[in-house]
Amino acid sequence: LRGRSLSVTSLGGLPVWEAERLPVEDLLLFEVSWEVTNKVGGICTVIQTKAKTTADEWGENYFLIGPYFEHNMKTQVEQCEPANDAVRKAVDAMNKHGCQVHFGRWLIEGSPYVVLFDISSSAWNLDRWKGDFWEACGVGIPHHDREANDMLIFGSLTAWFLKEVTDHADGKHVIAQFHEWQAGTGLILSRARKLPIATVFTTHATLLGRYLCAANIDFYNQLDKFDIDKEAGERQIYHRYCMERASVHCAHVFTTVSEITAIEAEHMLKRKPDVVTPNGLNVKKFSAVHEFQNLHAMYKARIQDFVRGHFYGHLDFDLEKTLFLFIAGRYEFSNKGADIFLESLSRLNFLLRMHKSNVTVVVFFIMPAKTNNFNVETLKGQAVRKQLWDTVHCLKEKFGKKLYDGLLRGEIPDMNSILDRDDLTIMKRAIFSTQRQSLPPVTTHNMIDDSTDPILSTIRRIGLFNNRADRVKVILHPEFLSSTSPLLPMDYEEFVRGCHLGVFPSYYEPWGYTPGIYIVDRRFRSPDDSCNQLTQFLYGFCKQSRRQRIIQRNRTERLSDLLDWRYLGRYYQHARHLTLSRAFPDKFHLEPTSPPTTDGFKYPRPSSVPPSPSGSQASSPQSSDAEDEEDEDERYDEEEEAERDRLNIKSPFSLNHFPKGKKKLHGEYKN
Ligand code: UDP
Ligand code: G6P
Ligand code: GLC
Repeated sequence: LRGRSLSVTSLGGLPVWEAERLPVEDLLLFEVSWEVTNKVGGICTVIQTKAKTTADEWGENYFLIGPYFEHNMKTQVEQCEPANDAVRKAVDAMNKHGCQVHFGRWLIEGSPYVVLFDISSSAWNLDRWKGDFWEACGVGIPHHDREANDMLIFGSLTAWFLKEVTDHADGKHVIAQFHEWQAGTGLILSRARKLPIATVFTTHATLLGRYLCAANIDFYNQLDKFDIDKEAGERQIYHRYCMERASVHCAHVFTTVSEITAIEAEHMLKRKPDVVTPNGLNVKKFSAVHEFQNLHAMYKARIQDFVRGHFYGHLDFDLEKTLFLFIAGRYEFSNKGADIFLESLSRLNFLLRMHKSNVTVVVFFIMPAKTNNFNVETLKGQAVRKQLWDTVHCLKEKFGKKLYDGLLRGEIPDMNSILDRDDLTIMKRAIFSTQRQSLPPVTTHNMIDDSTDPILSTIRRIGLFNNRADRVKVILHPEFLSSTSPLLPMDYEEFVRGCHLGVFPSYYEPWGYTPGIYIVDRRFRSPDDSCNQLTQFLYGFCKQSRRQRIIQRNRTERLSDLLDWRYLGRYYQHARHLTLSRAFPDKFHLEPTSPPTTDGFKYPRPSSVPPSPSGSQASSPQSSDAEDEEDEDERYDEEEEAERDRLNIKSPFSLNHFPKGKKKLHGEYKN
């Protein structure tokens, strides 16, 4: 993807370079992050999905370090005693000194051990630790920055813990990988205290990058022009910036998660990353080949149910011809591209209306914001739907019983009288209950900052109010999804499967969790042109037939193999090997056969090369509903083959959706 290279001999094969084998039985690996058992954003997903691969390699010698929050511990962690002697001694020693250190297994795939520090119970040390930190690196942290103070406590506890571990490690070498500036103080203090550990610092984004992009600056085209100290100072994040930059420079090995962040880091943090460790997925293998198509249908049905309730009284659109789109992530309005997405939706609405399309698009914005619970209208929608369902169920039972009795008597009941007057009254009342005075709400929650919220303000400006005539409907769900929600009880992964298209036209750090099927250029086009490009992609997608969508889903699923941690985990292995060779050069060497760099990451054509989705876009609206009901499983491969021949497509990555060369791409959306 985009010029990174991972040499893979075949989709099912192993990379051409041998996995670097470390004597893990003589090592201890710690990975430190504020997002261990603590869902904030993508870093939690990285650590969580990677855990299985890492735990498979490291077994009992792998530990994650994070903050303790009672709720997270109760719902995600099984408490246990550390089996490892050094870790047990470290936990005991700290607890004896009044800290509250919790230990257990994180109940996720791979069940890694976690060490969780209760920040608040150690807060009384803050002033002393500020002094220590000042002595270590000359960075002072203002008292009003609560988050930075918490990070200092977290880092001080981490460094203390690692000191205890190395004191009792019994000849085992220790590697510690720290994610982002929040975990960085632990690294700085460990190095200042000369702890015998090999360190890796990984940045997923830079502080300044986030701030500058959010201020709508043409960031990527001016990377070398910023006066970074001044920029950090003006934004009152100079101390945080210093914490981040010191972490970068203290680490034996510095890594980023994408090439674009590597370039950014070189300018913002003044160090070229040693390794790029792209984010992967924990790809599930299905026993039935097209199981994911069935899952799509199943989860889509759940979303349709929610939509039935949400749009009650306004359900004059065909749910079978309704597409579900979504954008999700931390609420950074312009960084995540919610701004151009909304603008494109407004244009899409216009196009669909103008062309009298029978397609409706329902778009979900899943971005956490401050709320005061679900709003009444939204809850009422689901209640109305449920009530209608119950009514129908009762009538169905009654109808069925009369029919059954009739057939038992050998006669077909008179259909006109099978339901009596009362039943008709019940039905009329049910229909009356679906009347509403207001439009279906654009947000599911009471927003605390309703009047200034950027998504809502934009919706007001562009007028996407879920009117009947609108072909594009919008729902802001300002909370991460959860299977225990009374409103939309689904996990994010299930929701993603049930939707048709995820749209991530982010401006900032676009290669996080959003590998794209179509890519919007955010760097060398004006925002207006990017919007037009996105609108065209969306409109093209709306014109596809169900059959074309099925084919596209099939291809997308195949591509997911390329992002499996089974392959991408090797970059983390490489970083660990590299740090050992730098921290303990007498003991560890990097074999010359190891990949020297990860520049030029290249995915060769897998045996089952799927064509680009462009091939499946219809030039005019088509409907093939009759064919849709055919047995799909047998047709997928034939269709792809035929289409590939028709379009004479050689490789999925040579098409214009995946431009070559140096051009940087800053937005994409995925199926
Ligand atoms: N996500 C989630 N639940 C939701 C919506 C999103 O857990 O309902 C997760 C999603 O899996 C993704 C993360 O939020 O991993 C957002 O990460 P991303 O890398 O896109 O951006 P970040 O917020 O870290 O900048
Ligand atoms: C999957 C299911 C099909 C269903 C299709 C709907 O492929 O196996 O039974 O018809 O999804 O696709 P759509 O893109 O219209 O949601
Ligand atoms: C950061 C980045 C995001 C990335 C995530 C995980 O939050 O902004 O793009 O996906 O980390 O690496």
